[in-house]
Amino acid sequence: MTVPALTGIELCVFDAYGTLYDFNSAVARHRTAVGAKADALAEMWRSKQIQYTWLRNSMGAYAPFWQVTGEALDHCLAAQGIADPSVREKLMGAYLALDPFPEVPAMLDRLRRAGVRCAILSNGNPGMLDPMVRASGLADRFEAVLSVDAVGAFKVDPRVYALVEAQCGVAPGKACFLSSNCWDAHGAAQFGFNTVWVNRAGAPDDNLPGRIVTQVENLSSLPSLLGVA
Ligand code: LAC
Repeated sequence: MTVPALTGIELCVFDAYGTLYDFNSAVARHRTAVGAKADALAEMWRSKQIQYTWLRNSMGAYAPFWQVTGEALDHCLAAQGIADPSVREKLMGAYLALDPFPEVPAMLDRLRRAGVRCAILSNGNPGMLDPMVRASGLADRFEAVLSVDAVGAFKVDPRVYALVEAQCGVAPGKACFLSSNCWDAHGAAQFGFNTVWVNRAGAPDDNLPGRIVTQVENLSSLPSLLGVA
C-alpha cells in the first residue's frame, strides 16, 4: 500500500494529451495508411507540435492548438516523405477522438467516489478538447475542461496555470496537478501546484525549476497517493 504523499487535496487537475489521452493512438489507428514511417511520424509530430507552442509563446504569436497541431503534422509528413493528403485527414480526425489510457476511467471513478474534484487544463482549444472528452465517455467526470485559449498563450506561461484558481476557485496549494509532460509538470510546480509527474516513458527528470512532489508510472496509483484508495 502506497503511503499517501499528498493529503488535503481538493482538486486534481490533469493535463490532457499524453496524460489522460494517448496521442499515439491517432497514428496507431491508421498505421496501415501511414505506412512504414508510422512510428517515426508519431514521435516527430508530437515533438514538433510542442516545440511550436514554445516558439509561438516566445514570438507572442498564439494560435489555437488545432492549427498548431496541423501545421506540425504538415511539416512532419513532408519530412517523412508522406504525400497522400488522406493521411493528414485521417490523423487530424483521429485527434478528435484519442483513446484514454486504460487506467483512466476507473481512476476517475475512484476519485469521484471519494469526493475529489477533477478538471483538465490543456494546451488544446475547446473545439478539439470537447469532442475528444465527449467521445471518450468521460465528460461527466470533469467539472471543468480549461483551455489555454482563454489566455492566448501556451503552457508553461504562468497565466495558463492561473486559470485553475480563477475558474475552479481552488488555490494551487490545495490542488494536485498531473502531467506526463515533464516540462509541464515543472511549469506547474514552479507556479505552486502539488505536482505529480506521470512518467509513462520511464524518462529521467528534466533539470528545470519547480519541485515535483513525486512521479508515478501511470495514473492507477493516484488514489493511493491522495490517501483515498
Ligand atoms: C496538453 C499538452 C501539453 O494537453 O499535452 O496541454
